[in-house]
Amino acid sequence: MRAHEAGALHGNDAAPTWLPYPSDVNTLIDGLWSRTTRRTEDGAVEVGGVSVARIAEEVGTPAFVLDEDDFRHRARAFRDAFAEAFRPLAGADVYYAGKAFLCGAVARWVEEDGLGLDVCTGGELAVALRAGFPGERIALHGNNKSLAEIRRALEAGVGRIVVDSLDEIDLVDAIAAELGLRAAVMLRVTTGVEAHTHEFIATAHEDQKFGLSLTGNTAFEAVRRVLAAEHLDLVGLHSHIGSQIFDTGGFEVAARRVLDLVAQVRDQLDHTITQLDLGGGFGVMYNTQHTPSTPEALASGIAGIVEKQCHELELEVPHVSFEPGRAIAGPSTQTLYTVGTVKDVRLGGPHHRVYVSVDGGMSDNVRTALYDADYSCLLSGRVSEQQPEVVRVVGKHCESGDIVVKDEYLPADVRRGDLVSVPVTGAYCYSLASNYNHVPRPPVIAVKDGEIRTLIRRETEEDLLGLDVG
Ligand code: LLP
Repeated sequence: MRAHEAGALHGNDAAPTWLPYPSDVNTLIDGLWSRTTRRTEDGAVEVGGVSVARIAEEVGTPAFVLDEDDFRHRARAFRDAFAEAFRPLAGADVYYAGKAFLCGAVARWVEEDGLGLDVCTGGELAVALRAGFPGERIALHGNNKSLAEIRRALEAGVGRIVVDSLDEIDLVDAIAAELGLRAAVMLRVTTGVEAHTHEFIATAHEDQKFGLSLTGNTAFEAVRRVLAAEHLDLVGLHSHIGSQIFDTGGFEVAARRVLDLVAQVRDQLDHTITQLDLGGGFGVMYNTQHTPSTPEALASGIAGIVEKQCHELELEVPHVSFEPGRAIAGPSTQTLYTVGTVKDVRLGGPHHRVYVSVDGGMSDNVRTALYDADYSCLLSGRVSEQQPEVVRVVGKHCESGDIVVKDEYLPADVRRGDLVSVPVTGAYCYSLASNYNHVPRPPVIAVKDGEIRTLIRRETEEDLLGLDVG
C-alpha cells in the first residue's frame, strides 16, 4: 500500500466515535482513577494525600505513582470474592500474577494480604524470595524454564511448578531426583479457546507457544507421564486463556474442556485431579469503552460455571485458583509526565492534530505501540476553563509510533510545563519498560496518607553507563 504523504493518521483530527466529548474536561472520570485520587481545592490532582505538584517537585517526572491503598484493596477484594464464592464448593485462592508489576514491597503486601504469587522467571522468583515470600505460596510458570530456574524453585520449595511441555516433565523429574525431593506440578493445558482480546495476549488458541494441547491427546499423555514419574506429584491442571478479557464465556469453554480431561483421567487412569487453576486475564477500564466486572461478579459467575459442569460430568468440584495481575495492579497506578513541546500539525485542508509531547513515552509504556491500546489522560497539575480539544500524547523517543495516548480531550491551553497524568498504568508498563534511546527508566513511588515512599528508584545515567564495559 502506498503511504499517504500525511501518514496513516491523515485527516483524523476528530475524536474517535468511542471518545465522548467531556462536559467538563477537568473531571476525573469514574472508574479510571485509583481510589484515593481526587482534585484538591486549588485544582491539582492528589493521590494518597499527595499532590502531583509535590511529586513532580520531590521525585521528578516521569514517575509511576502507585496508590498503595488501591492496590491492596483490590488484592483483598479478589482474595475475598473468590474465597466467598467458592466456599460452598471446594474453596478457591488467588495468586497475584507478578508479571504485571513486581517489586519487594508489592511481594510483601501480597504476602501480608494472604494471596499467593505467580512468577514466571528466575528474576521474578528472586524478587519474591528476597522479599521473604514463602515458597509454598509461589507458583512457577514459564514455557522455557531453564534448569537453573527449575532447580532454584525446587530448592525454595515452591508450591507448584506449572509444567508447559512434555519434555519439561522429564526435566523437573530429573532435577527433583537429583535434589532428593518430590516436585509438586500442575500441567498447563491449551484449551483451544479463542479469547476476544489482542492477538498477542490471547494464549489458549492452538497456534501459539504455551501449554499442552487437548487435541491429539497431548495433555492426557502429559498427565499419564506425570503420574508415572517417580519424583513428581500431580497437583492439578492449569488453563490461562488470555488477558484483558471482559466476559466469562471464554472461562466457561475453557473450564468445560479442562474438566472433560479431569473426567477422562478419572475414567481411564483411575486418578482424581483435585485442583484446577483457571489463570488470570480479567479486563480493566483504560477508557470509557471498557466496562469491567467486579471481583464479586466474576467470582460468582465462574463458581456457577465450575459447579454446573462438575455436576454434569459427575465430578467432585476441585479446589480452584486464579491468577489476576492486571486487575489488581493496573488501576492502582498513574504515570505522571511533564509536557514539553506542543505542536499543532496541519494535515491538509481543515484537518490538524495537536501533538502534546511528554518526557517519557514508549520506554515506560509500550502498550499503545505494541497492542494498539487506548489510554486516557488528564491535565493534573491545574484546572482549565478552556475548551476541550482532541490531542495525541506522544513521547520523546526517536520513533513516530512513540504514542502514549492516541486520542484524548485536553484543555486547549495545555502548554509546556503542565503536568499530565495517564491512569491505569500499574500493569505491564513498568514491567515492560526499556532503555530505548538510553532513556533511564522512571521510578515507582507508593503514596499513602500524605507520604511518598520510593519502591523502585529512578534509573540514572550512571546505571546505564555502568553496563557498558567494553
Ligand atoms: N497467569 C498466566 C499463566 C499468565 O500468562 C498471565 C499473563 C496471567 C496469569 C495474568 O494475566 P492478567 O490477569 O494480568 O491479564 N503484556 C500484556 C499482557 C501479557 C499477559 C501475559 N500473561 C499486556 O500488556 O497486555
